[in-house]
Amino acid sequence: MYIDTHAHLNYEDKYGDIPSLLSSLRAAGVDAVVNAGWNYASSLLAANMAKEEPMLYFAAGVHPSNLADLAQGDYGRIAGLLSSPKGVAVEEIGLDYHYGGADKEAQKRAFCEQLELADALSLPVVIHSRDAAEDTLRILKDNRAKLARGGVMHCFSGSPETAKEYLKLGLYISFAGPVTFKNARRADEAAKAVPADRLLAETDSPYLAPEPFRGTLNTPENVALVYAKLAALRGEETQALAERIEKNARTLFYKMNDEKRENGHGKV
Ligand code: NI
Repeated sequence: MYIDTHAHLNYEDKYGDIPSLLSSLRAAGVDAVVNAGWNYASSLLAANMAKEEPMLYFAAGVHPSNLADLAQGDYGRIAGLLSSPKGVAVEEIGLDYHYGGADKEAQKRAFCEQLELADALSLPVVIHSRDAAEDTLRILKDNRAKLARGGVMHCFSGSPETAKEYLKLGLYISFAGPVTFKNARRADEAAKAVPADRLLAETDSPYLAPEPFRGTLNTPENVALVYAKLAALRGEETQALAERIEKNARTLFYKMNDEKRENGHGKV
């Protein structure tokens, strides 16, 4: 019923027993989670979790705030992980100027390298952009040819005008917990403006728990609150919106469908 298109359940020690977490997610109506890496080690863990658990998919890549972890040969190892039928995207990649720790030029280089990696692997990209919209847009425009498999702006909190620029590049826009926050007027306006066939939803667990759980440990179960808020903003039925978003997710993360067929679970 609900899909969480971006979470990090690959945080060792945050969630305790994963099989029992997943059974409570299923009971709450969450039927699939894309578990995202932020460096090679967390990508490997996400890949291994996806092998064990039918409802988990994974994405692999190096986050702009984790470039210190990037070692020689990591892109090759990440490509190796993504050859798995459950590896659905290169993620999460992009620019983060908020923390100011990592050198901007190094971030831009790693972003471009991973756009190239995604293109070589024929996979979509999941893009993190914080306080860096101008450079993110410019790099995406310059690398438009490498976006053949598409991508998504994850945890979007920008304006409708910025969303429009990303939509022009063929990208999806994904909303997370912040869209439920009381001061989220700009993201609310963007959530209303995104066409139904380009909309995604996520939790970004363990971060950014939505209202009324703001400040607590987030889990994909809370994605229902993001769906409910998006539906309310857009004047749609939550169930219809959830179906639409599941279809969008399976279009963008196209390997989810291949994987279902390979396992004989029937057509989507
Ligand atoms: Ni994330």
